[in-house]
Amino acid sequence: MGDAIKEKYTLGIIGGTGQEGKGLAYRWTLAGHHVIIGSRNQEKALAAVAEIAPLLGKDAGLLGGMENSAAVAACDIAVVTVPYSAHRVTLEGLKDVLSGKIVIDVAVPIMPPKVTKVQMPPAGSVAQEAQEILGDTCSVVDAFQNISHERLMEGGDVDCDVLVCGKGKAARQVVLGLVADTGLRGWDAGQIENAVVVEGMTSVLIGLNIQHKVKASGIRITGIADLD
Ligand SMILES: NC(=O)c1ccc[n+]([C@@H]2O[C@H](COP(=O)([O-])OP(=O)(O)OC[C@H]3O[C@@H](n4cnc5c(N)ncnc54)[C@H](OP(=O)(O)O)[C@@H]3O)[C@@H](O)[C@H]2O)c1
Repeated sequence: MGDAIKEKYTLGIIGGTGQEGKGLAYRWTLAGHHVIIGSRNQEKALAAVAEIAPLLGKDAGLLGGMENSAAVAACDIAVVTVPYSAHRVTLEGLKDVLSGKIVIDVAVPIMPPKVTKVQMPPAGSVAQEAQEILGDTCSVVDAFQNISHERLMEGGDVDCDVLVCGKGKAARQVVLGLVADTGLRGWDAGQIENAVVVEGMTSVLIGLNIQHKVKASGIRITGIADLD
C-alpha cells in the first residue's frame, strides 16, 4: 500500500484548482514535496500552477499541473479537494488509478443551502463513502476539513489544529507527517468511523464564522503538552 514513511512525496491533488487545493499545494511545495495540481481540464490546472508559482521562489519547479487521472497516476499519495456534490462521481471515475494509494480526503458534506447544519451521507461520512467506493486496496484518511483556505494561502502559523482519522494507523502516520509539513499541528483522531466528528465540525465552524463575522474560526486540542 505504500504506507512506509518517505521524506518527500509526489502528491496529486484532485480538484486542486479550487481554493483549498491551491492552499495545500502552496504549503506542500514550499516543504519540498513534488505537487501536481489536478483538474478535469489540464489548461485549468496549468493556470492554477501559474497563479501559485510566483509565491514559491526557487521551489516553483516542484509544482506541476495535469488532468486529474494523470495526476493520480503520477502520484504517491492522492488528495481529494472537490465539492461533496462532485465527490462520488469523481472517485468512481478515478477508482482504477487510485488503487493501492493513500487517499487524503479533504471534502466536507456541505449541502447548500443549509451549510451550518451537519448533514452526513448515508455511509456515515464522506471518508466512509470514499472507502466504500474505492475498496480495500486504498486507505482513505480525512484531514484539513477544519482549515479555511484563507489561512493556508496566507502562509505562516495557523490558529487551528488538524484532526486526522482514517483507515490504518500507518496511513494516518504518513498523513500526520504531511500535516506537519504544512506547518500545522495534527492529531491522530483514530479510525475512519470518527470522520463524522471531523467533517461535522466544519458546519459548526461555518456557523460560528457567520455569527461572529469572521472568515476562519478553527479548533485547538488542549491539555496535551506540545511535543514540538
Ligand atoms: N474552501 C475551504 O476553505 C475548505 C476548507 C475545508 C474543507 N474544504 C473542502 O474541500 C473541498 C474543496 O473546497 P474548495 O472550496 O476548494 O472547492 P471548489 O473551489 O468549489 O472546487 C474545487 C475544485 O473541484 C472541481 N470541481 C468542481 N465541481 C466539480 C464537478 N462537478 N465534478 C468534478 N470536479 C469538480 C473543480 O476543479 P476543475 O474544474 O479544475 O476540475 C474545482 O476547482 C470541498 O469538499 C470543501 O468542502 C474546503
